[in-house]
Amino acid sequence: MKKIQEESNFSSPLGVGGSIGIFDSGYGGLTILEKIRAELPQYDYIYLGDNARTPYGTRSFDVVYKFTLECVNQLFEMGCQMVVLACNTASAKALRTIQQKDLPLIDPNRRVLGVIRPTVEAVGIMTKTKHIGLLATVGTVQSNSYPLEIAKLHENIVVTSEACPLWVPLIENNEHNTEGADYFIRKNVENLLTADPQIDTVMLGCTHYPLIVEQIKSYLPESVKVVSQGEIVAQSLADYLQRHPEMAVKCTKSGSVRYLTTESVEKFASSASIFLNQEIRAEHIDLG
Ligand code: DGL
Repeated sequence: MKKIQEESNFSSPLGVGGSIGIFDSGYGGLTILEKIRAELPQYDYIYLGDNARTPYGTRSFDVVYKFTLECVNQLFEMGCQMVVLACNTASAKALRTIQQKDLPLIDPNRRVLGVIRPTVEAVGIMTKTKHIGLLATVGTVQSNSYPLEIAKLHENIVVTSEACPLWVPLIENNEHNTEGADYFIRKNVENLLTADPQIDTVMLGCTHYPLIVEQIKSYLPESVKVVSQGEIVAQSLADYLQRHPEMAVKCTKSGSVRYLTTESVEKFASSASIFLNQEIRAEHIDLG
């Protein structure tokens, strides 16, 4: 039985209209939500962080798929007609199956979008050397999604990936501005450049990483561009809604945002404020 602890005033019937759902395993998607709201402030949003089960980055395909589908279904039940997986790991491991296998059964008119495709579209034209670096979770790197998507859209680009298994836990625990964190950030960035010194563009393929972008940059030559996803995804969503007025009309517009977490609301509020720099009032949700 799914329960939201606080009283909900959300009663959009299925299939009629509702907020845009933004999903992440934890807090990282807040970096995407912030840019989306700056680009599209008129829409209503529901953010769902599966904080009780984060991180997803070290979990298997099957588990990430199962967890992501549960969260998407939850957002659908709350009236969302469209959900953005603001999580690279979920986009890499669950998006395709949800789009191809689940959506046609759940409701073919709803949409689930990811963050990898828009990032890849944008990054291919930024590199001059045609050597791109990817910093991401173990799951995203192992899925090979970035090199595969890049190969589909851009010719002759070499992608070198570095998995950074400790970065998400350090950020989620608010330990990222410490000397200990710096050691691991430096180590992963240096590994990437050692593996391919011709890299001129580095993609942050995890929505948590914008929080440590300055530390990452400090270990890269100034000539290397570092690409965060927030603005790219926000722009891509704006384009999508413009090209799909039938979806835009179903997304309600009163500029509101609700935050749901599978963890405790106190924990979410204190950690989320690190990401958004503002006070957050969240609601707890149990996924059934
Ligand atoms: N924020 C997620 C991403 O973009 C990863 C976090 C996790 O490992 O759960 O990949």
